[in-house]
Amino acid sequence: MSASYEVKGNVAVITLNNPPVNGLGHATRSGIFDGLKKAMADTAVKAVVITGAGKAFSGGADIKEFNSPKATAEPTLHTVIAALEGAEKPVVAAVHSVAMGGGLELALGCHYRVASPGAQIALPEVKLGILPGAGGTQRLPRVVGVETALNMIVSGTPAPSEKLAGTRLFDQMIEGDLMAGALAFAAKIADTRPLPKVRDIKIDYPNHEAFFQFARNTVGAMAKNFPAPKKCVDCVAASVSMKFEDGLKFEREAFLALVQTSESKALRHFFFGERAASKIPDVPEDTAKRPIKSAAIIGAGTMGGGIAMNFANAGIPVIVLEMKQEALDKGLATIRKNYENTMKKGKLTQQKFDERVNLIKGTMSYDDIKDADIVIEAVFEEMGVKETVFKKLDEVMKPGAILASNTSTLDLNKIAAFTKRPQDVIGTHFFSPANVMKLLEIVRGAKTGKDVLATTMALSKKIKKTGVVSGVCDGFIGNRMVEQYSRQAGFLLEEGCLSEQVDKAIEKIGFAMGPFRMGDLAGNDIGWAIRKRRYAERPNMKYSKTADLLCEMGRYGQKTGAGWYDYKPGDRKPYPSQLVNDMIVKHSKDIGVERRKVSDQEIVERLVYALVNEAAYLLEEGIAQKASDVDMVYLTGYGFPLHRGGPMFYADTVGLLNVVSAMEKYARGRHGEFWKPAPLLAKLAAEGKTFN
Ligand code: 3HC
Ligand code: NAI
Repeated sequence: MSASYEVKGNVAVITLNNPPVNGLGHATRSGIFDGLKKAMADTAVKAVVITGAGKAFSGGADIKEFNSPKATAEPTLHTVIAALEGAEKPVVAAVHSVAMGGGLELALGCHYRVASPGAQIALPEVKLGILPGAGGTQRLPRVVGVETALNMIVSGTPAPSEKLAGTRLFDQMIEGDLMAGALAFAAKIADTRPLPKVRDIKIDYPNHEAFFQFARNTVGAMAKNFPAPKKCVDCVAASVSMKFEDGLKFEREAFLALVQTSESKALRHFFFGERAASKIPDVPEDTAKRPIKSAAIIGAGTMGGGIAMNFANAGIPVIVLEMKQEALDKGLATIRKNYENTMKKGKLTQQKFDERVNLIKGTMSYDDIKDADIVIEAVFEEMGVKETVFKKLDEVMKPGAILASNTSTLDLNKIAAFTKRPQDVIGTHFFSPANVMKLLEIVRGAKTGKDVLATTMALSKKIKKTGVVSGVCDGFIGNRMVEQYSRQAGFLLEEGCLSEQVDKAIEKIGFAMGPFRMGDLAGNDIGWAIRKRRYAERPNMKYSKTADLLCEMGRYGQKTGAGWYDYKPGDRKPYPSQLVNDMIVKHSKDIGVERRKVSDQEIVERLVYALVNEAAYLLEEGIAQKASDVDMVYLTGYGFPLHRGGPMFYADTVGLLNVVSAMEKYARGRHGEFWKPAPLLAKLAAEGKTFN
């Protein structure tokens, strides 16, 4: 039983006890149900208090049970809530820390609710692609009002309990000892009859049709790839227009339909994948971590400035080091400007602005940074420069300081070898703009200490990044995969596509940006430099020459006003370029390829399966630890559509046998060798298994 029962005086106390967040799995529901029965049968008991042990009242339904028989096994959450609401003795919910989803719905089924200040109150189901399915959409509007409830349900955002004090959600706020306060409250209301039920509260909301229509339009435009937000609006609308029982039924049907959608499955995969990424198989969770109370950054360029902002945003003082005053001033001015822009948009108060700017200092002396707990190097991407910096860091940094490199392509083990403390060296590969992008690839060198890895992983959470561990290889997880994706994009041009067709096809399935628009944004010269290296290193690896021809035309992308597309001054919109299209068609002719019509399906399959196959190699080589890590990299760093759950989840959804069959078909075209399935992919497909 994941709920305990005890009697204090004449009050029965049922305590949810299912760590870490008292999820309402089958055992917990049974525990509550049985406890309630006991309380009703005991004539000495006059009232019931229900609360949660540990760090939550309840985080809601147990998401791990979804789509399993346990989710629908009796007593369901509906049954439990109906029993609480129908109990002939008063039931008081004592809410603290977290009351979310089914947890809040459980509290709404009680006759009374008392709460500690600072508890996070939310119906966050929408973030999992579903909606509150245990009466939340019908009961919350009755206690906090239709508009507040709609906002909470559609956004899923938590509100602190004290913000909702004064609404009918809470009968009393309790400072200090919650249980003592709840028991005192229970004693006070023990004889009150009839018992109040949220379902009986009348909703008076004139003009609701116009309001809900407006809400539907707004939500529809914002959440076009997800069905849940619109359904949330429909259900809250039902709380106004339907009788309570009918509204409940309407909500139930919508919930059951949504829980089966691929969008919801993808969002749940994301929820668990993000948490799983922080678990490193050979690094126990209780590994001692080094304290990180201060940081230093070497280099105040594009990346250094953004990285420094992450620390300041998390309240950690940070010193940025440059070699020249001019570069330092420029870097610090950019940081200030970024914060000013955020403030202008109303997203930062003057006080927070001052706090953050004051946490960032500049220096040109290594003496000023020697006591930092972590130093992150973000200087030019040249081994010689990295060598100078790491030798210097080895000399000056205090013992135990973490020495991190933001290198995107260089061998971290070589960098670590420039020091006498390779166990302290780690890669922290941020993505541009570093203060915005969620992804942080944490690169584990051959000698990186486990405590250094654990500390950096914990730090990534503190600075609000999704940390994913990668082994050392060229490109780490994300860029190594993207190289294969780009190669396919190039081959598609040679065979019959134009850049806009490729971009549109992949954007239609939800990618934030197709490969050619992405190239124009990042700078086509970057890929060109990498390819030049590749031509020397791997002469047998084939690339389309179209991207080189484009660069030879000086078309580096937005920064030169022209790339795969034309750009107008002050306008980032891409316009198809006749010149580029002519170049593409001519190139096919020059290499003797007869252009053909390529379907959008082929484009999508070839681009996505190129990612999937490379990821299978990464898994085999142990560079990526698990398939969900690859998905997290692509969802948080590469604009892969969230509702499709990442490349590996997508491949699982398509079916790996289908993926392999498609690859076999493409292998019969040009570049057959490209489409040889990685052994892991071939094995899983043959065994009828999935990556995730
Ligand atoms: N079900 C199952 N497991 C859950 C869970 C849930 N509802 N909520 C959290 N967990 C697990 C996490 O997976 C994690 O497990 P792990 O240690 O094995 O990785 C562990 O609890 C701790 O989670 P966090 O790392 O997120 O802990 P935090 O303290 O940072 O946050 C939280 C706690 C705010 C509760 C956060 O976990 C959260 O937002 N959880 C999701 C809440 C939610 O979406 N609830 C709605 C569920 S759906 C529902 O109720 C349907 C109903 O309407 C019928
Ligand atoms: P940048 O050229 O914008 O900035 C580098 C800064 O380092 C310059 O301000 C320069 O003055 C300074 N610098 C150079 N040598 C120095 C030294 N010895 N001591 C102190 N400062 C020195 O470069 P950017 O783009 O910020 O890249 C930095 C690192 O981050 C590189 O390793 C790069 O590969 C990596 N990276 C870059 C990404 C990007 O999108 N720009 C993304 C991810 C990683």
